[in-house]
Amino acid sequence: MKKIAVLTSGGDAPGMNACIRAVVRTGIFNGLEVIGIMRGYSGLINGELKEMTLSSVADIIQRGGTILRTARCPEFTKPEGRAIAAKVLKDNGIEGLVVIGGDGSFRGAQLLSQEHGVNTIGIPGTIDNDIASTDYSIGFFTAVNTALDAINKIRDTMTSHERGSIIEVMGRHCGNIALYAGIAGGAEIILVPEIPFDMDDLVDRIREGQARGKLHNIIVLAEGVCSAYELLDRIKERLPELDFRATILGHIQRGGSPTAFDRVLASQMGARAVELLLQGKTCRVIGMKKNKLVDFDVDEALAMEREFDMDMYNLSKILSI
Ligand code: F6P
Repeated sequence: MKKIAVLTSGGDAPGMNACIRAVVRTGIFNGLEVIGIMRGYSGLINGELKEMTLSSVADIIQRGGTILRTARCPEFTKPEGRAIAAKVLKDNGIEGLVVIGGDGSFRGAQLLSQEHGVNTIGIPGTIDNDIASTDYSIGFFTAVNTALDAINKIRDTMTSHERGSIIEVMGRHCGNIALYAGIAGGAEIILVPEIPFDMDDLVDRIREGQARGKLHNIIVLAEGVCSAYELLDRIKERLPELDFRATILGHIQRGGSPTAFDRVLASQMGARAVELLLQGKTCRVIGMKKNKLVDFDVDEALAMEREFDMDMYNLSKILSI
């Protein structure tokens, strides 16, 4: 193998740059030529390629976002789009492709391998932490810290005014950002899509908090449950005497300098992806399980279901009484 390429796809995540850097530097260290593909699969279809050098990844380990840009690419979901992408890779002599993204991006890589024999390795890069084949995806802990910072600040003002607050966090259908940021931020209530919630129970818990003189009521709500404003209306209907506010954190959670954990995870995963390609492996997805780097066949990885951490959830309930 002489030439490989790397792209970032789907929603960006802090630590993607650290991962690109690791792919490029490990590749060059091993005598490979490394190509950066701009704008994910869309850039691949359009032939937006650029030669990566040691210095093109200098000074990026600390930066959020992705220097390769990213996109969601509907064209790549069609066989015709993937055929063009495979031709671009072949015409440019690219023998291996590292895809940094979420499970949708892995599905694209899986099809590219199956239909056109492209060697692909997937690296989990998403703030959502919704990929079952890894305990943690690149960007998750940075997003949790960002959400936590916001929760701390909202708590200050809510306490001063003795208000309640609903803070909506991202995560798509996964409640991990809400769970971790909620526990770390001492939230009274954490609502996640994995556990259906009961409005009567929620109201009782808010009332109990009021009765024991709590100065604030923080509800961390995962976006996969419902919108913060919808929940606000329902709470106002049931508890008109209380002053509740809603905040949607939104894309702030996707930005910022990656934490040390995300930078180290991204560096390890990026290097492992290149090693796997050099060993002639393909259709693999990298993960971190019980603190060990692992890799799975992409079919196996995509068939895995993420188990919700009930112990953590129960702990959050105990600690918020
Ligand atoms: O997958 C990452 C994520 O930030 C989700 O948490 C969120 O639902 C989605 O992307 C938002 O996507 P977009 O930036 O395209 O609106």
